Amino acid sequence: MSVQEYLDNHMLSRKIEEAVNAAVRAKSPDPILFISNHMRKAVPSVITKVKARQILDSRGIPTVEVDLHTNKGVFRASTPSSDLTGLYEAVELRDGDKGSYLGNSVSKAVKNVNEKISEALVGMDPTLQSQIDQAMIDLDKTEKKGELGVNAILAVSMAACKAGAAQKEVPLYKHIADLSGRNTLTLPVPAFTVISGGKRAGNSLAIQEIMILPIGASRFEEALQMGSETYHHLKAVIVDKYGAQGCNVGEDGGFAPNISSFKEGLDLVKEAISRTGYNERIKIAIDVAATDFCMGTKYDLDYKSPNKSGQNFKSADDMIKLYRELCAEYPIVSIEDPFDKEDWEHTKRFSSLAICQVVGDDLLMSNSQRMKKAIEESTCDALLLKINQIGTVTEAIEVVKLAKDAHWGVVASHRCGETEDSFIADFSVGLSTGQIKAGAPCRGERLAKYNQLLRIEEELGDDAFYAGEEWRESS
Ligand code: PGA
Ligand code: ZN
Repeated sequence: MSVQEYLDNHMLSRKIEEAVNAAVRAKSPDPILFISNHMRKAVPSVITKVKARQILDSRGIPTVEVDLHTNKGVFRASTPSSDLTGLYEAVELRDGDKGSYLGNSVSKAVKNVNEKISEALVGMDPTLQSQIDQAMIDLDKTEKKGELGVNAILAVSMAACKAGAAQKEVPLYKHIADLSGRNTLTLPVPAFTVISGGKRAGNSLAIQEIMILPIGASRFEEALQMGSETYHHLKAVIVDKYGAQGCNVGEDGGFAPNISSFKEGLDLVKEAISRTGYNERIKIAIDVAATDFCMGTKYDLDYKSPNKSGQNFKSADDMIKLYRELCAEYPIVSIEDPFDKEDWEHTKRFSSLAICQVVGDDLLMSNSQRMKKAIEESTCDALLLKINQIGTVTEAIEVVKLAKDAHWGVVASHRCGETEDSFIADFSVGLSTGQIKAGAPCRGERLAKYNQLLRIEEELGDDAFYAGEEWRESS
């Protein structure tokens, strides 16, 4: 092909003329840079390759990281992980070879990305998120994404979302808002884990975590400061009472002193809050994760205790009584999974008291069918959203819409096995979830999310809106 034919085929003279005119109109101080950027924009973005690798999550367990290549750059994302039961949620693909990472390696999921998924997505426009997600769903063909693995699919979906934002030259949170048809952006109220228990810590505390919510902050930046200061005051309170050993931390960064009762933990947190002087500006939430200690119809509050007395088996009605007392005595505004995941009856009964927000985590498993049932039956009034239980950005957006249409609260959530990826921070702002739960205000994989929210708030400047008092019904 001659040079002239090439120029004609690509209509280059016209495109260059347009770029020059645009530079003149913009009175650009650096016309060559302006023209080259203009030309770059004129080229549509296409996916050229999707490449995955096995990395380790914050627990030291393998997960999938993806580099999605377009003709304009490389976009990276990684999938968080936990004990996915696969009951109503998407399925992780693990190799199961006991000789490699105790069966947890993910080379099959990596291979699926590098071969099948890459082949299906090459040539696609990364701004078309729902088409990309649908292509992977079609390729997988199973209901729970077990063929390719949710660990493979989600990382690609998030990386494509980042590439789509870059093509549009907008921040990730703005692209996510666009994808969901929203035009409001809200900085969420963080729920910082300060005391860890349950399966995530080696102490005797049955419940999974105690969190603090700086609802009274005026900005996210202030909320983070309030959270951090309380965390450090708490450390001092714990050292005074239990010695330095009490400050060992659980998997999500909360302190794990050897306490065994709800009240012991709540008193420590109450004392730390009073030392900060923030008082009623900080509220408390608990994640009971009651499924983990439900034995038949009873709840064993001593399930981790080495010296079980056998006296601490509570009926569901006893638990309701206990929650009522705790909410009266402490500034508790939210309780997650107060009963076993199949105990819809008592969850509903407790919700109907309208004492605090009732969050469905194990109860719902971010599953739209279970959510619809819970909405219809008024079982709870908030969703704990774990995107790796769903598997694609498009479906996660749909699930948030479902919750919001029911006027539920929405908590964008991390997993215990996290990575440095801060995707859920942008996701929570773009969808105005109003709440985010990403662990303690310490440890890199948790702070990746909180620090990203700081950046977003800075970038939004005067347009930044912190959910604050509107944490439950952020529009
Ligand atoms: P995970 O859940 O530990 O299963 O990741 C965290 C939570 O219950 O909020
Ligand atoms: Zn939970």
